[in-house]
Amino acid sequence: MAKLASGRVTEKSSKLLDKFNASLLFDQKLYAEDIKGSIAHATMLEKQGILSEHELNDIVNGLSKIKDEIENKQFIFDISDEDIHMAIEKRLTEIIGDTGKKLHTARSRNDQVALDFRLYVQKNTLIIKQLLLKLEVTLLEIAKDHTKTMLPGMTHLQHAQPINFAYHMLAYMSMFKRDIQRLDSAYERNNYSPIGCAALAGTPHNLDRNLTAKLLEFSEPTVNCLDTVSDRDFALDILFNISTIMTHISRLAEELILWSSSEFKFVTLSDAYSTSSSIMPQKKNPDVPELLRGKTGRVYGNLISLLTVLKGLPLAYNKDMQEDKEGVFDSVETALVSIEILTAALATMQVNEKNMQNACKVGHLSATDLADYLVQKCDMPFRDAYKITGSIVVEAEKMQIDLSEMPYEVLKEFAPCIEEDVVKYLDLRHSMDARTSQGGTATKATKDQILYFEEWLKGI
Ligand code: ARG
Repeated sequence: MAKLASGRVTEKSSKLLDKFNASLLFDQKLYAEDIKGSIAHATMLEKQGILSEHELNDIVNGLSKIKDEIENKQFIFDISDEDIHMAIEKRLTEIIGDTGKKLHTARSRNDQVALDFRLYVQKNTLIIKQLLLKLEVTLLEIAKDHTKTMLPGMTHLQHAQPINFAYHMLAYMSMFKRDIQRLDSAYERNNYSPIGCAALAGTPHNLDRNLTAKLLEFSEPTVNCLDTVSDRDFALDILFNISTIMTHISRLAEELILWSSSEFKFVTLSDAYSTSSSIMPQKKNPDVPELLRGKTGRVYGNLISLLTVLKGLPLAYNKDMQEDKEGVFDSVETALVSIEILTAALATMQVNEKNMQNACKVGHLSATDLADYLVQKCDMPFRDAYKITGSIVVEAEKMQIDLSEMPYEVLKEFAPCIEEDVVKYLDLRHSMDARTSQGGTATKATKDQILYFEEWLKGI
């Protein structure tokens, strides 16, 4: 069959052009969205008296047959059809005859691709959100088991103050909660139907864009067609949102890599999510978090790539925009698999509470508590208390003990106002549980945060 859109161009295109111009090899992923959009468009055309009922039935039946053919791998993808839109339309005309040629009335590939791609992005925004919710539930489960499990909280990757492991997990819950909210707001912002905009300026046909919007479950039609056919903000939104999700995943992955090393031994990743070395038989490698960290780079690249494609484009559609899809497909697929495997790796990971607790004894984690004690007990200005505590820490280093193990008698030599109750303040668990301020790490404050996240999840 001859090319569908061979209007102005009369000479046969070269094979090289066909290959260069075609998006069919990757945009065939949009077949279901294309068929759904075409059925909605045809339904509207019939309601408006532009197609007869009989024609609509033929179109709908033909499109359903094409869907089956694609899903049963019987459909022949020929790149000289250029893209999924033309491939489906050509096949429709093969199956139902001339009526197939009426489907493209009051429509252009410009609003068609904007619709298909937007449907894909909206659908996957919801799927990613559901996977993030499962991840949140897993993090919450871990948190509930570890409100008393102490580990060194760090700044600059140096031991800072004792915190509990639940608190650490809830920090990640906070990040993924914001990610979910970002997905929600992007979904709302982009929930407008592009179909019916035609090439760039609308159409003289009497359309009902509200009906197609309703059939496709958008909140309303878009307002300005010139913008609509050149708008890819919805794609940028999902690329940015996935980039931020992957940033959070990558930070957690980095911690899992550190924590599963011999130096930390805070966690043991399940064998099901670890691999071995091909030469060193003793090795167990954290490939899952490493790959998560690595894939984050590619996802960032996809965002920058689309921003760059769009930045110089005059209104409205330009063929450059065909480059919008592969990066989005790649980022979406990366996000789906990454969130799923991270959830599984976390759910099966062993938390080595003893090692976490022992690590708290390194680095004088209760030093701030001693300074606070001096402020409260001796009415000392904080800077003086800070200085004295510093000297005590130096002494502890000399004695090769942790500050929490320092005898009261030695402490007293540094400040006569120090009394025996200081021992309690230097105790590491006391240090952690003293931080009861809202959002703090005390077991009590952490439990309040758990309640907060439980309520939030219930409300979704
Ligand atoms: N394959 C094209 C794309 O992905 C579809 C739109 C083509 N429109 C056009 N006027 N050539 O962007």
